[in-house]
Amino acid sequence: LLLIIVVAVVLGLILRQGTSFKSTFIDRCEQFEGYNCEKIWGAFEKAYVGRDPCEVPMEAYDPFIAAAHFKPACGRMMFWSKTKDLVHDFTEKKDCFLTLEDTLLGSVVNDLTWCGKEGSSETFTTGCPGWTYCENNTVRSFWNRASAAFADVACGDVTAMLNGSITTPFNSASIFASIEVKRFDSSRVKNLNVVLVTQKNFVTNCTNASLKNLQKELDAGIKYNCKEVAEAQIHECSSDPQKPCGSCW
Ligand code: APR
Repeated sequence: LLLIIVVAVVLGLILRQGTSFKSTFIDRCEQFEGYNCEKIWGAFEKAYVGRDPCEVPMEAYDPFIAAAHFKPACGRMMFWSKTKDLVHDFTEKKDCFLTLEDTLLGSVVNDLTWCGKEGSSETFTTGCPGWTYCENNTVRSFWNRASAAFADVACGDVTAMLNGSITTPFNSASIFASIEVKRFDSSRVKNLNVVLVTQKNFVTNCTNASLKNLQKELDAGIKYNCKEVAEAQIHECSSDPQKPCGSCW
C-alpha cells in the first residue's frame, strides 16, 4: 500500500509540474487581448518537447514568435542590461515604456525555467540545464530569439537602461550587445537614448569605453545619446503618480 501511495504521489507531482507550467503560461497569455493562447502554447511547446534540452537552437522558437506576433510601440520600447529589477519596477509603476518582459512574448515565461527530454512529451521545470551549461539550451535560446524579435521591430526613439555601477555597462556577451543592438535598423530606429543608472559610488559615466563600442556598433543613421541618472531619482519618479512620463530623466 505504501508503495502505491508513494508512486501515486510521485506521479501526481510529475503531472502537476507540467500542468502548472502550462497553466501559468496560459494565464499570463490571457492578460493580452486578441490572441489564441492555446495555439501560442502549442507553438511554444513544439520548440523543445521531446528534445535534448541542450539542443534547442533559437530558430526552434520561430513558430512561437510567429504565433505571438505583436505590434511595435514606437517611441516606448525599453531595452536593458544588468538593470532587470529597476527597469521592471519602473515600467510596472509608470506606463511610459515597454520592455520585452511586459509584452506577451516575454511575459509568458518571465522568471520561469523549463525544458523537455528526449522520448518524453512533457515540460519539466526542474533538472533543466543552467544558462551557461550549454550553448543551445532551452531557456537561453528562448530569450535570444524573443529578444531578436523585439529588437527587429524597434522603432522611433529607443531607450536602453544600462548599469553605471559596473565597469562594462555595454558587455559584448550580453543579449543587449550580442543580439539586440545588432538588429536595430536605421530605417526604423531614429535615436538610441541610453539611461546610465548611477548609484552613490558609481564607477562609470557616459564616457565609458564600452559605450564607445556601443556607438560603433550602431547602424549609421541612428543617433545616440547618453544620460547619467541616479537610481534614487528613478525610484522617486516612478513612485510619484503626479510626475508625467518623460519627466524622470
Ligand atoms: N544565468 C541565468 N540567467 C541569466 C544569465 C546567467 N548567466 N545571464 C543572463 N541571464 C538572464 C537573467 O534572467 C537576466 O536577468 O538574462 C537576463 C538578462 O541578462 P543581463 O545580462 O542583465 O542583460 P542582457 O543579457 O543584456 O539581456 C537583457 O535582453 O531580455 C532582453 O530585451 C531584453 O534588453 C533586454 C536584454
